[in-house]
Amino acid sequence: MPTDAGEIVQALRDAGLTDTAEPLLEPLTGGVSCDVWKLDTPTGSIVVKRPLAQLRVAAEWNAPVERGESEVRWLRRVREVEPAIVPEVLAELSVGHAFAMTFLPDCPVWKDELVAGRVDIDFAARVGSRIATVHAATANNIVDRDNFPNDAMFRALRVDPFLLHVADNDPALAPALRDLAEDLMSRKIALVHGDVSPKNILVNGDNPVFIDAECAVYSDPAFDLAFCITHLLLKSVWLDSEKLRQAAAAMVDAYRAVIDWEVPDELLQRAGRLAGALLLARVEGKSPAPYLVEEEHKDIIRTQARALILEPVPIDDLVTQWKRTFV
Ligand SMILES: Nc1ncnc2c1ncn2[C@@H]1O[C@H](COP(=O)(O)OP(=O)(O)O)[C@@H](O)[C@H]1O
Ligand SMILES: [Mg+2]
Repeated sequence: MPTDAGEIVQALRDAGLTDTAEPLLEPLTGGVSCDVWKLDTPTGSIVVKRPLAQLRVAAEWNAPVERGESEVRWLRRVREVEPAIVPEVLAELSVGHAFAMTFLPDCPVWKDELVAGRVDIDFAARVGSRIATVHAATANNIVDRDNFPNDAMFRALRVDPFLLHVADNDPALAPALRDLAEDLMSRKIALVHGDVSPKNILVNGDNPVFIDAECAVYSDPAFDLAFCITHLLLKSVWLDSEKLRQAAAAMVDAYRAVIDWEVPDELLQRAGRLAGALLLARVEGKSPAPYLVEEEHKDIIRTQARALILEPVPIDDLVTQWKRTFV
């Protein structure tokens, strides 16, 4: 049953987070899968987030609301690893799988910085090293593995729409993509965020803060690296920005330097293979990148991604070879 704002306010009062009769819930701009509000309280501003049962995307796309609990669990676990890179969870509310966390003031969304042309290569490197730190801290950890049994959710939100949807519509690529999906689902290596996109990273001075971990799963850490690199490379085409490609290269290098749980080259190989598929998914998949509207941009990405799916290369080479324009 959908919850309304009145129930959320009551739950906030029950949790002791507000004592105001009708607190102002200010909607934060954002994604397709949740209601996110900012609320001022006597002890500071907080964010309240409630997952939606039906995502606000063109294609029908349902997702279990329990993903709110995965996000809370991820935020709490990462807080133990590196407190500065996540907001603090303040309470899980009694309705709609909603929760409250600290609001980070004056922290722009990284995507907005990139789109405005402020591409900080050192910041990109820190994104890479921090994601890798979470992976390193949770790698081969049976407790983390048991705490994130979210394969069905990961399949519904990531594997089906990004990998298998394209496979169903493209017989030439289908064997490679199905093989990739199976390989991804079979690996249980570390705690994966699942949505490391620049719109889910806040810029807190020099440091990244990661939010929106609804897709968290114990899986292949290569997925997070591939997912974030994909976003930077897509934007390098859209904005014709060499600096964004350099930022991607710095992110891969910084990530690689932290890998201590497996042979680094093997992870980079898997990430390269995944990135090829994710690049194509943002042009052909169920969740196309909204800014890729020009056919020429889509062609540049499609041509390279198709070749990469059929003949994958490690993600560091992929980033080096990536072309923003047709030459
Ligand atoms: N703890 C926070 N501090 C400051 N801003 C936040 C915080 N959490 C979310 N936001 C803002 O709300 C937006 C949407 O939040 P997000 O968790 O990404 O939800 P969605 O699933 O809707 O994308 C973010 O892009 C960011 O601008
Ligand atoms: Mg988001």
